[in-house]
Amino acid sequence: MKLNEALIAKITAAKQEHLLRYFDTLPESEQASFAAQLADVDFDALPELVENYVLNRPHVAIPDDLGPAPYYPLTPRDEAQKKLYADAVKCGEELIRAGRVACLTVAGGQGTRLGFDGPKGTYPIGPVSGRSLFAYFAGGIRRTEEKYGVKIVWYLMTSQLNHAATVAFFQENHFFGLDADQVFFFTQGTMPAIGYDGKLLMNAKNSLALSPDGHGGTLLALRKSGALDRMKRDGVDTISYFQVDNPLVPVVDPKFIGLHHLTGAQMSAVMLAKTNAMEKLGNFCVTENRLQIIEYSDLPKELAEKTLPDGTLAFIAGSPAIHVIDRAFVEALTAGGKLQLPWHRADKKIPFLDEAGNFVAPTAPNGVKLESFIFDALPLAEKTMVLECDRAEVFAPTKNPTGVDSAESCRAMLMDRDRRRLAAAGVPVAADAQIEIAPALAVDAADVAELVKLRKITEIVSGAKVVIE
Ligand code: UD1
Repeated sequence: MKLNEALIAKITAAKQEHLLRYFDTLPESEQASFAAQLADVDFDALPELVENYVLNRPHVAIPDDLGPAPYYPLTPRDEAQKKLYADAVKCGEELIRAGRVACLTVAGGQGTRLGFDGPKGTYPIGPVSGRSLFAYFAGGIRRTEEKYGVKIVWYLMTSQLNHAATVAFFQENHFFGLDADQVFFFTQGTMPAIGYDGKLLMNAKNSLALSPDGHGGTLLALRKSGALDRMKRDGVDTISYFQVDNPLVPVVDPKFIGLHHLTGAQMSAVMLAKTNAMEKLGNFCVTENRLQIIEYSDLPKELAEKTLPDGTLAFIAGSPAIHVIDRAFVEALTAGGKLQLPWHRADKKIPFLDEAGNFVAPTAPNGVKLESFIFDALPLAEKTMVLECDRAEVFAPTKNPTGVDSAESCRAMLMDRDRRRLAAAGVPVAADAQIEIAPALAVDAADVAELVKLRKITEIVSGAKVVIE
């Protein structure tokens, strides 16, 4: 086949002719898929991208007026706030019951740090059962549906790298008891990796070295995939957003959803008090009255370590990446099928095809991957809201195999949560007992109290290894 002349002109203008080196030698079927990859690249924008992000290192400007973001505290400050929180719970419950809330999980990342081969959501996290991360969320959705007498659609973003394996896992597991049409899979976009010389890297004669475009790609992918249309058809206007690595997250939190609604926010965020200045969490900041999250790697050390007179961290608010987002806000941001959030550069070892056509696996970083972040949409909102939550109830990320934010610490936190709920329901749990309550049975303490009564659970003895299914 012949490559479209206009595309060739764009490739040439962007000084990327090397991409065409093997095109004529490829079988026709490979030419077609490679041509599609090339057509997907915005070659017009590339020279500027190369200049600003590859040849020059982007500088994350820290505005002079940058300050810590205000938030609604975990414990209400006064009677008025107490009432507001109670109203928020009621409002959130009404929205859920009315079918206006959907779940959205971003699961397109590569999970390299965990060292797990496969989509991260398939990782066996259940402390006793070994159930997967996906099974936790599905269970939470099922229990929420039962509780509120409603159907909840789960929007699940994959990437080209893990889409097929993710869908196959759901099929093998019969969608964890959900209806197949209740899980809306959609795939995020890709970005070509760029070598330090500004040339796009190829990973084969018929392919660019592509990687997922970051979870900022979620917003446009929601539009392109028809997810926004489906939400509109279903009467959904509120999106409960969380990451695939956090099985402790309440899949829908009535108080958070209700407060988002009552404050008129377009996009809201949960905040946690950071455990230390350098904890690897995005930091909630404000500049020019706009909320912004500055990634842990970008906040200067002196700001991260700055303290208030009482010794607490000035930038105490860390992001567990839990959001509520209005569908209308995503529609407005992506109107016209375009959205440009800022890019973030990551230096990586990117396998590539060298000039002689040999495949090279570099041992040192040789290029740049660009990603956009969904939280960069926060400053684009007219109104935002940040709510402090209890870490022990909402955040146990599985990022590493052991140590901080690991599968190990996550399992311990899942068990502690269930232990607390049982103890609150009057069931003593031996300190060495291993316990797991199926997520489809309980999303809160009230559910566990009911379960305890129904199943007549009186105690969990020493040495027990129990899954309450
Ligand atoms: C992320 C946040 C950080 C937050 C922390 C909480 C970023 C850049 N930072 O850090 O502010 O405090 O989580 O745990 O996100 N993903 C995609 N597609 C992509 C890239 C990522 O779907 O192209 C998904 C991953 O599957 C995962 C989530 O986004 O669910 C987070 O990605 P990850 O790279 O693990 O971010 P962290 O550095 O852990």
